Amino acid sequence: MNTHTPTQSDVTRRDFLKTACKTAAAGAAISQLPVERLVHAAPSDTVTVALIGCGGRGSGAASQALSTEGPIRLVAVADAFKDRLESSLNGLKRQFDKKVEVGEEQKFVGMNAYKEAIKLADVVILTTPPGFRPYHFAEAVKQGKHVFMEKPVAADAHGVRIVLEAAQEAKRKGLKVGVGLQRHHQAGYIETINRLQDGELGDITSMRSYWNGGGVWDPRRTRDQVKSELEYQLQNWYYYVWLSGDHICEQHIHNLDVINWVKGFKYPVAAQGMGGRQVRVDKKYGEIFDHHFVEFEYADGSRNYSQCRHIPGCFSSVSEYVTGTKGHANVGGHTLVDFKGKLLWRHDGKANKDPYQVEHDRLFDAVRNNKPHNEAVNGAMSTMTSILGRLATYTGRRLTWDQAFNSKIVMMPDDIDYVNGTWTGTPPSKPNANGEYPIAVPGSEEWMKRLV
Ligand SMILES: NC(=O)c1ccc[n+]([C@@H]2O[C@H](COP(=O)([O-])OP(=O)(O)OC[C@H]3O[C@@H](n4cnc5c(N)ncnc54)[C@H](O)[C@@H]3O)[C@@H](O)[C@H]2O)c1
Repeated sequence: MNTHTPTQSDVTRRDFLKTACKTAAAGAAISQLPVERLVHAAPSDTVTVALIGCGGRGSGAASQALSTEGPIRLVAVADAFKDRLESSLNGLKRQFDKKVEVGEEQKFVGMNAYKEAIKLADVVILTTPPGFRPYHFAEAVKQGKHVFMEKPVAADAHGVRIVLEAAQEAKRKGLKVGVGLQRHHQAGYIETINRLQDGELGDITSMRSYWNGGGVWDPRRTRDQVKSELEYQLQNWYYYVWLSGDHICEQHIHNLDVINWVKGFKYPVAAQGMGGRQVRVDKKYGEIFDHHFVEFEYADGSRNYSQCRHIPGCFSSVSEYVTGTKGHANVGGHTLVDFKGKLLWRHDGKANKDPYQVEHDRLFDAVRNNKPHNEAVNGAMSTMTSILGRLATYTGRRLTWDQAFNSKIVMMPDDIDYVNGTWTGTPPSKPNANGEYPIAVPGSEEWMKRLV
């Protein structure tokens, strides 16, 4: 019986060193940065916050940050687009009044907006499309700031390696890092997984995870409403892999992460799968697939059978299930049953609080009281799990973790700029004369080279 329930901090000590140190990561430069002066807020100090990426989730995360205990102020905001920034800020001002102290000088738009906003705050909220996250996180750590960042934390393995390097730097500097995998702060999940790790269902032999639903928002801008291809992709970011990682990363990461957690913060050693675009095929939907099935293999031979689909009118489920030698668990339903279906345990739901609020309460408590808090490594490893899944379905090959993790592909363009209100640069995927993008072809040697 397992008497010690692994925590996310254990990942830092154990799995990261085993897995990540194999690679001389692109973030090597980060580890050479000077250690900043560390400032830990006293409980009565006013903590200042900057929001980078003022969309739906960023506005929500800022609202949760401003709802934590103790004096707190939002002092800077940054976004790629001024209208998004203003509408988020107006909403936050209406809700929080004097807790929002953002004048014209503290509003930043453009490619380097994040750097300016980070300078002004103690804690930064990183909620742009995930492709930018590694660069924003590395900058925040370089500037010695505490971070809340949304999942996924990268869109490619290069980005994951940057985050892992910066996570070590954050630890060295004593910075606190929260990652938006909020199930880790949900009482029902915590107790269910504690029971599984205590052996209540015996050895876990098989896992299933799902994010099957109708999909997300439709593209926000048409070509005639934007000034450049880069702006088109930024506005419609969900549909471009370099920005979102595809929906297997964007959403299904939550369920893949739960399975990694059930496994005691162990990560798959290989994956193979299939997927494609069957219904969401219009060119306005960019280049991502609308369905993926992946079989993830763990070192002990157990498998996670994972499905994610964005097709309306089909079987819908956002859930995780595991089978042990003594019965089954509905992990998201917080229920254990034996093989005859007899209920063994169900979480009573009493201690369940809004996990989005709890994750911020814990982060800000750690900042104010200098408690250990760093979720970046597990965030990066679960992000890598979802990237491994995407690469498996895009290539149609069985890929090992090491193959995917050590990929030299860098999707982020190196020439992005924002000049006189126009975004310019060369995104990795460009449309043909009809506005159609190349779509990954499983089994193709050419795509294998392009992707891994
Ligand atoms: N944990 C959860 O349950 C949860 C829920 C929703 C979203 N999210 C995550 O939050 C992130 C944002 O999602 P969203 O739904 O808020 O998207 P969104 O499109 O509403 O917001 C993203 C914002 O980032 C801005 N942006 C784009 N590029 C930028 C850049 N380089 N610099 C500054 N700003 C930039 C966009 O203009 C936009 O305002 C995603 O990673 C998503 O997965 C997590």
